[in-house]
Amino acid sequence: EARTMEALRERHGGLRGGILAGRREGVERQHRLGKGTARERIAMLLDEGSFIELDMYRRHQAHGLRMEENRPHTDGVVAGSGTIDGRRVFVYAQDFTIFGGSLGAAHAAKIHKVMDLAISTGSPLIGLIDSGGARIQEGVVALSGYGGIFQRSVQASGVIPQISVVLGPCAGGAAYTVALADFAFMVRDTAQLYLTGPDVVAAVSGQRVTHAELGGADVHGTKSGVATFVHDDEETCLEEVRYLVSMLPSNNLSLPPRAPSCDAADDVRPRLAEIVPVEPNKPYDMRQVIAELVDDGDYLEIHQGWAQNVVCVLARIDGEVVGIVGNQPMVLAGVLDVSASQKAARFVRFCDAFSIPLVTLIDVPGFLPGTDQEHAGIIRHGAKLLYAYCEATVPRIHVIVRKAYGGAYIVMDSRTIGTDLSLAWPTNEVAVMGAEGAVNVIFRKELAAAADPARLRAELVAEYAEQLMHPHYAAERGLVDDVIDPVDTRAAVARGLAMLRDKRKPAPQRKHGNVPL
Ligand code: COA
Repeated sequence: EARTMEALRERHGGLRGGILAGRREGVERQHRLGKGTARERIAMLLDEGSFIELDMYRRHQAHGLRMEENRPHTDGVVAGSGTIDGRRVFVYAQDFTIFGGSLGAAHAAKIHKVMDLAISTGSPLIGLIDSGGARIQEGVVALSGYGGIFQRSVQASGVIPQISVVLGPCAGGAAYTVALADFAFMVRDTAQLYLTGPDVVAAVSGQRVTHAELGGADVHGTKSGVATFVHDDEETCLEEVRYLVSMLPSNNLSLPPRAPSCDAADDVRPRLAEIVPVEPNKPYDMRQVIAELVDDGDYLEIHQGWAQNVVCVLARIDGEVVGIVGNQPMVLAGVLDVSASQKAARFVRFCDAFSIPLVTLIDVPGFLPGTDQEHAGIIRHGAKLLYAYCEATVPRIHVIVRKAYGGAYIVMDSRTIGTDLSLAWPTNEVAVMGAEGAVNVIFRKELAAAADPARLRAELVAEYAEQLMHPHYAAERGLVDDVIDPVDTRAAVARGLAMLRDKRKPAPQRKHGNVPL
């Protein structure tokens, strides 16, 4: 080969264009399936012209099974760094047109390299996944390549944000590159994510199932909770990755990017007085409350399709990024169950790890009762959320919008587990339980003996509500810091965030806690 600049340019151009011998067909196939190539995807994700590619010439050194005859450059993954809104990120994109994007030793080493750089420079890592998994011809070496990814991913957890984007197959152990990430994106129709594919399922259990039924985007977005975000096409998906990154700090030592203040501290929102019905059992959409609280009504909902009885969003209030957790009375009356506890717990821990203040909107009647939930371990899973809040050292503000009953009230960032600022609307009902239930328990004998039980019950309910659930009951005891007019909530939260901005709370010295997993 000529060692001239011209030869170099030609070679570079050929590799970049991705049309070296044998690949044209693969590229056409990607496009036919509505999929981009690795480089097209990187171009959509990053700021124009910002990509710095590393290891473009790298190729596998494997022997046997005719591997010597086929040694394409890149080894099936394009890796490097670029910027999103001018902020540095590291990225790798698997290239399905080369060995089905499968991971061999060289391919893995390239991913390890960008992970190491992401960690040492304190930059988010984004993996674009489209791969047949461990490269079968490279055997155990390929599998250990995944081990190196997992080990790094865990070391990087809570240090840099990690985002996995599934844009094609992701099967077997490779699925853990998604599970270990902070956020997982999937694209409908093309993404497939499972530990064992349909063929193995059929062989083992006789059950016939399609790729989509087993591990399509909708399954993971609504049933398993593995996918944080689901989108219809790659373009929207990658645009949303950019939006997510715009709200995250680059690492655990930096703060999330602030937008200019928009005078939220004086903002009166009349709509807030209309959204929440006074009747404790009437549903409404907590997202309408959120839209009134946040800047421009703009928020990014996490796990929109899964565990919808709790709502988790990233948004800005007066320019500052916050994580909002709200009960959702529209779904299952807003009770906490196994999935909702897991969803909110992981979100709270993410926000805490990355210096994102927490705003909790409470309207919770309790935990979902029943054998299903108890047997599924609601005690263990509810404990995750409790643990996550107890441990969080970021600024914490809650607003009691309506109901706050029993154990669920305590779990939802209550005063005694460490919230910094407790605000309540005049509609708040902080109590061990609702009035009807309470009266049935404490006056069971009296009601049974009464000549007119209905009348007695009504009297006792009124008495209970009057004594234990009046709007200032908790505030008189210091468990609520202020009872506010709903229309002032955005302003009160903005002022609270400003008050708490310099909060520091050192974590106790220990190896690590034992979160109930
Ligand atoms: N190792 C090596 N090569 C692989 C591979 C792997 N794990 N997965 C796919 N490939 C290759 C195929 O041999 C094929 O090569 P070719 O173009 O030279 O024929 C190419 O990638 C495309 O694969 P193909 O099977 O034609 O694509 P598909 O879209 O029909 O199916 C998969 C995609 C991922 C479902 C299928 O390739 C598959 O099941 N792969 C194996 C998955 C697996 O068990 N991996 C190990 C898990 S740890």
